[in-house]
Amino acid sequence: MSLFPAPIAASSGLRDGSRLRLHAIGPEDRACIAAGFRRLSAASRYSRFLRPMPRLDAATLDYLTAIDGARHLALGASAGTGERVGIARCIRLAEDPDTTEIAVTVMDDWQRRGVARVLATELARWADAVAIKTFRALFSYENRPVARLLAGAGVAFANDGAGLLRADIDLGLILRGAGPASA
Ligand SMILES: CC(C)(COP(=O)(O)OP(=O)(O)OC[C@H]1O[C@@H](n2cnc3c(N)ncnc32)[C@H](O)[C@@H]1OP(=O)(O)O)[C@@H](O)C(=O)NCCC(=O)NCCS
Repeated sequence: MSLFPAPIAASSGLRDGSRLRLHAIGPEDRACIAAGFRRLSAASRYSRFLRPMPRLDAATLDYLTAIDGARHLALGASAGTGERVGIARCIRLAEDPDTTEIAVTVMDDWQRRGVARVLATELARWADAVAIKTFRALFSYENRPVARLLAGAGVAFANDGAGLLRADIDLGLILRGAGPASA
């Protein structure tokens, strides 16, 4: 059974009109996540994990696939061909459970087509359904795509130390711009 609450779409459109299929990540996605990681460039790995990541170990794979639909949510996106093109997750902060840290990764050859926007929007719908209020993004000061995405949406970000920037994004901001769920 899917972890998605009923109103969340099974598929959604990119800006070129092509469709993505979205699914809740689970333990069965372990091999796909490992394969996707192997295809990801060193630069994208660094941007995602905020440190050099030559490999994904078994404990990290366990963590990345242990989705419970309430504390830890994760969505995978596939193209019409079945190719896995991106993943987005959010995990509640122990010290502030209304806030989750969000991470989005799009395969290098699928970047700049709107995949992250689709994933973030659908993740926000799911998060809203389980009473999450805020996505916190932590990213390198060199991560121009994320800085530009946030600035374009009117989201402020601040220095978090150690070369990182931090933004707290109200889910309402994402959901107000999202329109109705696609089918
Ligand atoms: C950041 C990332 C998730 C964006 O994914 P994406 O699918 O390419 O993003 P989208 O196509 O939805 O673009 C959304 C907006 O982000 C910004 N953006 C994305 N890529 C950009 C780039 N290369 N340069 C400048 N701005 C960029 C733009 O504002 C863009 O909107 P626009 O195309 O209308 O101008 C992707 O680059 C990625 O996976 N990077 C590596 C991992 C990472 O940095 N994750 C985020 C930190 S956890």
